[in-house]
Amino acid sequence: MRQKIGILTGGGDCPGLNAAIRALVRRATKDNVAVVGIKNGWLGLVEDTTIPLTREAVTGILPRGGTILGTSRYNPLKHTHAIERLQDNWKRHELTGVVVVGGEGTLSAAYDLSTQYRCNLVAIPKTIDNDIAGTDFTFGFDTAVSIVTDAVDRLHSTAESHHRVMVVEVMGRHTGWIAAFGGIAGGADVILVPEHPFRLSRVCELLKRRKNDGRAFSIVVVAEDAHPAEEEQFLNEEMQKELYRHDRLGGIGSILGYEIERCTGIETRVTKLGYVQRGGSPTPYDRVLATRFGVKAYEMVVAEEWGRMAALQGNKITSVPLKEAVSAIKTLDPDIYRVAEVFFG
Ligand code: F6P
Repeated sequence: MRQKIGILTGGGDCPGLNAAIRALVRRATKDNVAVVGIKNGWLGLVEDTTIPLTREAVTGILPRGGTILGTSRYNPLKHTHAIERLQDNWKRHELTGVVVVGGEGTLSAAYDLSTQYRCNLVAIPKTIDNDIAGTDFTFGFDTAVSIVTDAVDRLHSTAESHHRVMVVEVMGRHTGWIAAFGGIAGGADVILVPEHPFRLSRVCELLKRRKNDGRAFSIVVVAEDAHPAEEEQFLNEEMQKELYRHDRLGGIGSILGYEIERCTGIETRVTKLGYVQRGGSPTPYDRVLATRFGVKAYEMVVAEEWGRMAALQGNKITSVPLKEAVSAIKTLDPDIYRVAEVFFG
């Protein structure tokens, strides 16, 4: 009988998901192995919404953003009877294994399903945030950084014309990877990340000094989960609850912009890049990384490397236990932040 593999994409979408799906299908097709596309993350396996992923079905999807399978943040472990339904559908489709393409939440569910229910799963890490442990990079990140860089480049010219401070709020969940890489690449004058609580007084001093030194404008990149240091907390409890909700971050940029203008007297404007960072076509780097992960995932299924995740270490694609990937988030490399700091002010 012809072997069958399932694939699903879960959590927030990111550029490169379609490249990974295509790669798995193209590699499997070479061995005459069938691929079943599971719609909308884990939900599709519970509700049995699937599509056959033939070579024709994946034609032309390599440069497309988003995911042709749809996605959701649904976790079957949190719903009654969902696991039984998932297992029934798995059997009905006679799946040898399922490839799970996801970030922190989706991979945690994959780890639980593989350890508690012995599901034959292999994982591919994806997220614009680059916060998955065990892999140097995730696809989606390079595209997000290129979007931030382009935005910072564009903000330079308008900031310069108006002699303004421009605050740019970027995504990244609880880590500062996007802020640091986008800020370094775009030549930001200050970069604020969750890993280093910031002092408003220091930021303002730095911006005033730049102005006094004849630099007529400044760019401040702030990660959505950047926090003020305890001793300089300027957010009341209500604001903190609103800005740092577990399931939805965002808004620190506007408050920071207001505070900067108040304490420096320099006209300040704020840009929140938001979902633009997750949209559109993946960069060549992300297409290649996603393709390498897709091919690797197929090889892992064939080798029955269940409970493991494809990973990039140095220039090599390898695999790591899912446990390593889900035990902690990968925070910003301190060496990267040290480089960023050289250009502050
Ligand atoms: O994890 C990717 C990400 O885009 C984060 O950077 C952001 O905080 C979050 O997802 C937004 O999630 P949602 O799509 O649920 O609003």
